[in-house]
Amino acid sequence: MHTINIHVIPPHSTQHHAEGSPMRASLAHTVNSPRFYIALAFLVAVLAVTVAEFSLGIVVTAGGNSDSNSKGQLSTMASFSVVSVLLSAYLCLLVYNSIALYYFTFWLSSLKEDLGDVAAWYEMCPVHPEAQEGNSNEEELEPTGPKAFWVAEVVSPSTAQPEIVGCISLDSSPPSLTHVSQYELRRMIVSASHRRLGIAASLIKVCEAHAVANGLTRVMLRTTQFQPGARKLYKEKNGYKEVGEQVYHAGIGLGSGWKWGRAKGISVFTYVKEFGTQCK
Ligand SMILES: CC(C)(COP(=O)(O)OP(=O)(O)OC[C@H]1O[C@@H](n2cnc3c(N)ncnc32)[C@H](O)[C@@H]1OP(=O)(O)O)[C@@H](O)C(=O)NCCC(=O)NCCS
Repeated sequence: MHTINIHVIPPHSTQHHAEGSPMRASLAHTVNSPRFYIALAFLVAVLAVTVAEFSLGIVVTAGGNSDSNSKGQLSTMASFSVVSVLLSAYLCLLVYNSIALYYFTFWLSSLKEDLGDVAAWYEMCPVHPEAQEGNSNEEELEPTGPKAFWVAEVVSPSTAQPEIVGCISLDSSPPSLTHVSQYELRRMIVSASHRRLGIAASLIKVCEAHAVANGLTRVMLRTTQFQPGARKLYKEKNGYKEVGEQVYHAGIGLGSGWKWGRAKGISVFTYVKEFGTQCK
């Protein structure tokens, strides 16, 4: 049995593309679409015809046929090559759009936002400033307000070494359309090797208790259609209500304005949990 401690320290482990990765699910979602299969079928057909033309060209040339015939075949082959390059580029665009817009931009913006400097973003300060000098990676931090970042640490009984296996944060979200500032549960992830042990549930409990202790009456969070486990965790196990669904369409350059160049839309669900009026 693992020991699970939840400490307030900056994360120093990285997220792996483990089984069940939303990015993989998103890719499969894009690939599994009629336009992808149609383009792929065209590509295969064009390549097959190009190969057939090429083989025929060799046979004709070997047979000493006229120059005009070979030139005609060469130009047909060139046209097929251009079409196959365009089709390949289109397929790459679809795949790239489905990954790039949602995931690369998400990771890059995350590193520029809170994950770039957890202490500053979440307004946390060292628990023991004097003891931590020169060892900023291991610095233990505590929140100074509602915003905070937690990691779950598991101590293996065999090695007695602590390992960070999950995290969660409570962040202030920009005012919504109703101009109300909200607090949002973010950065929820548990390492693939430690899932279904109740770690996420523990992280949520700690986060919610902190929210209530800081006088919040409600928190919200967002998740996508590619995180069915997370949706079940929030909705069925922790009493979050689904209050909205927004479909985001990825697309860069040509793809952004052209329906057939965009990756399939991704549904992002908003959940809220009300705590009622709390006395501080
Ligand atoms: C979603 C995630 C955080 C859950 O972490 P976890 O520590 O495995 O979750 P818990 O063990 O606390 O699960 C609590 C309950 O949530 C539900 N649940 C969690 N993962 C589930 C899954 N993959 N499938 C179905 N239900 C799931 C179950 O009801 C579970 O209770 P049970 O194990 O008694 O059936 C984890 O799978 C993860 O990191 N996924 C990838 C990142 C992600 O989707 N993050 C959410 C961002 S919004």
